[in-house]
Amino acid sequence: MEHRNTQDRAQAGRPRRRSRFSPFMRQLLFYLLFMVPAVTDVAALWLGWAGAMSWQQTLHEFGRYAFRFLLASLLVSPLRRFFKLNFMVYRRPLGLLAFSYALLHVAIYVCGAARLDLMRIVHDFLTRPFLICGALALLCMMTLALTSTRTAIMQLGRKWTELHRLAYMAMVLVCLHYSLAFKTWRIEPLLYAAFALAVLATRLFKPGRGEQTGGDPTGAAHARGKSGGKAGGDKSSRA
Ligand code: HEM
Repeated sequence: MEHRNTQDRAQAGRPRRRSRFSPFMRQLLFYLLFMVPAVTDVAALWLGWAGAMSWQQTLHEFGRYAFRFLLASLLVSPLRRFFKLNFMVYRRPLGLLAFSYALLHVAIYVCGAARLDLMRIVHDFLTRPFLICGALALLCMMTLALTSTRTAIMQLGRKWTELHRLAYMAMVLVCLHYSLAFKTWRIEPLLYAAFALAVLATRLFKPGRGEQTGGDPTGAAHARGKSGGKAGGDKSSRA
């Protein structure tokens, strides 16, 4: 890892600034900061504060945020590879933010929009196939979140890197979910999907010789300042 850090600094062409906070602390603060709007929106909705969004608006808003965080987490590697911008430490909190907003999105659908009516939920899933894409994406994201801990990285070794390619599948499923969510074609989901596909397409470019591959897609090893077991040194990963 020390070797990797030295490489990072050499590539950036300048010494790395020392932060007052440890990488873990920065991840935690980053996560908490971006959870503040979620907590205030849910509180406003729950307590009926003036100016609160409706269930429907909150459902849509959280869905869009989940999408954006997932996309941002997938942007971290291309930014480092092609533009030498290293936000690796924020990849894990970005993934967890995507999952947290997606969970809230679904909770609002179940409690607010469907009013805990199981028959209505079953009916919705049978008549609106985009919901199945959303549910599968959520499953992928849950797997990623549950295996983003240090222990999971150590235990899964190389398999961890392969498992975390589920993030790409989640992105494709969410693009379908978003694009098919409306009765008419809308430009916004299609623009997002085009951008997401462009980000995923960067994976097709094989890393050049000597180029960093970044075998730890969560940025957990970067955060800890060491390789984090077998997964940390996986040269086969293009993540
Ligand atoms: C079980 C899983 C899910 C369910 C039941 C669900 C449900 C819904 C519902 C009911 C809508 C509104 C459609 C309409 O108004 O007609 C929606 C929209 C949306 N969902 Fe989901 N969703 C799920 C998973 C996800 C996930 C995992 C993401 C993102 C990571 C996501 C992102 C979105 C987005 C971006 C929209 C469109 C928001 C807008 O711009 O209006 N959903 N979803």
